[in-house]
Order: sequence, then structure tokens, then C-alpha cells
Amino acid sequence: MAAAYVIHTSVRASSPNVLLAELAAAAPVVLPSLLLCDFGNLADEIRRLEQAGVKALHLDVMDGHFVPNLTYGPGIVEACRRATDLPLDCHLMISEPQRYIDDFRNAGADSLTIHIEAVPDPRPLLERIRSLRAMAGLAINPGTPLDDITGVLDACDLLLVMSVQPGFGGQKFQPVALEKLRRLREIAPSRVLLEVDGGVNEFTIKSCAEAGARMFVVGSAMFGADDYSSSFRQLSQLAHV
Ligand code: DX5
Ligand code: ZN
Repeated sequence: MAAAYVIHTSVRASSPNVLLAELAAAAPVVLPSLLLCDFGNLADEIRRLEQAGVKALHLDVMDGHFVPNLTYGPGIVEACRRATDLPLDCHLMISEPQRYIDDFRNAGADSLTIHIEAVPDPRPLLERIRSLRAMAGLAINPGTPLDDITGVLDACDLLLVMSVQPGFGGQKFQPVALEKLRRLREIAPSRVLLEVDGGVNEFTIKSCAEAGARMFVVGSAMFGADDYSSSFRQLSQLAHV
């Protein structure tokens, strides 16, 4: 098992290229998604995840409009920032993300991922995210054709391939994500990190890795387990292909 490679934002030059290189070097990266965790003990949860060897956190921001669920805003991102130096990968499942990008960046988000379904012409916003020295991510839902994003791959640092319809944890993995990952591995610039999100667990993570994913978001596969260390270790080992 590779030594835990913790990326500390406090000591890292705050540049998307530096973080991108660090995450690529640390890949495969399994990121717990903060959706099913115990928010009443957030700092303790983050400490447990760090002790388990986690290298980055995935924060699921939902507005109850773009998706039928409501989670949290910049305040929780800031609380996470105060609790850890780990990179914070913010998944913005929100309408009109342009209205909130600065708030999430100022709260401490290191990467900001918007949905193509919320921003049909994402290039300006992706460029704005990079101008704020955060990694720019673009997410695509299972039912959205890949052709909707092939024109802006060069403006992305991260491509988030959804293997569930966004809004809730604990859903069944949709294999359509694998074909998208394989195609993106062929056509996306090699520096762009492929991330998969939804229904990723011990049964599906290996095929995601074989299809080209380098970052793996897991919710119920970790938060359903008593011991974060063993589930993290098992998932990380399975993702090494
Ligand atoms: C769904 C979120 C995912 C989800 C993952 O809208 O984007 O990050 O929380 O949870 P699991 O791994 O249980 O599908
Ligand atoms: Zn997510």
C-alpha cells in the first residue's frame, strides 16, 4: 500500500496546476463524499477519514432545484476548511452556479465542479474558476450525451462522470458511465483527471479504474462501514489496476 500521500493545501502553492499534478501523482484517489456522514460531528468525521489515509474530500452541494435534495452551502465548506488541509473537491449540483463560485472558492474549495446540464455553455465559467486558482471540473449525468461536453474538455482540469442521477447517495451504479470514461480517456487531454461518482463500491470500482477513472467518489461504500480504514484500504487497493 503506497504511503499515505497527504496533500496539504496550506503548504501547497495555491495553483490548480499544482493540485492537479499532486492528485495525479497520488492517483488512484478514493474520495469520501460528505453527504452521508455525521454532520453533527463533522470535525471528528474528517479526523477519522484523515486517519484512514484519505487524500481528498468530495463535498456534495445540492440546492433542491437542480437536484431534488438540499444539502449545504459555503458555510459547511468553510467548516471543513478549518478542520483539514486536505483538498476539498466541491461538486456543485446547483442551478446558476456562476452566482456562487466566488463564495465557494473563498470558503476554501480547491476544485469546483459544475454540471453541463446547469450551464450549457460552460467555458466562461470554467475559465473563471481557473482564474480564481481553483481546479475547474465539469460533471455529466448518465442521460446526457458525451457530445455535450467534447467541445470544452480543454478548459477542464477534472471531468466528473456521474454513474447515478445526482441528488442522493446509495443508488445503483449505472454502467453507461464506463463507456463515457473509456471514450474520455481517449479524447480528453492527458492532464485532465477523470472522476466517477455514484454507486462506486467494492463491486464496481475496479471496472471504473480499468475504464480510465483516476478519482473515485464513494459515499455509502465508506459511510455504511463501521471502520473507515478497512473500507478505504480495500477500495484503494481495488482501484490500483
Ligand atoms: C450524488 C452525489 C454522490 C453520492 C455518492 O448526487 O454526487 O457523490 O453522494 O454516494 P454513493 O457512493 O452512495 O452513491
Ligand atoms: Zn458528488
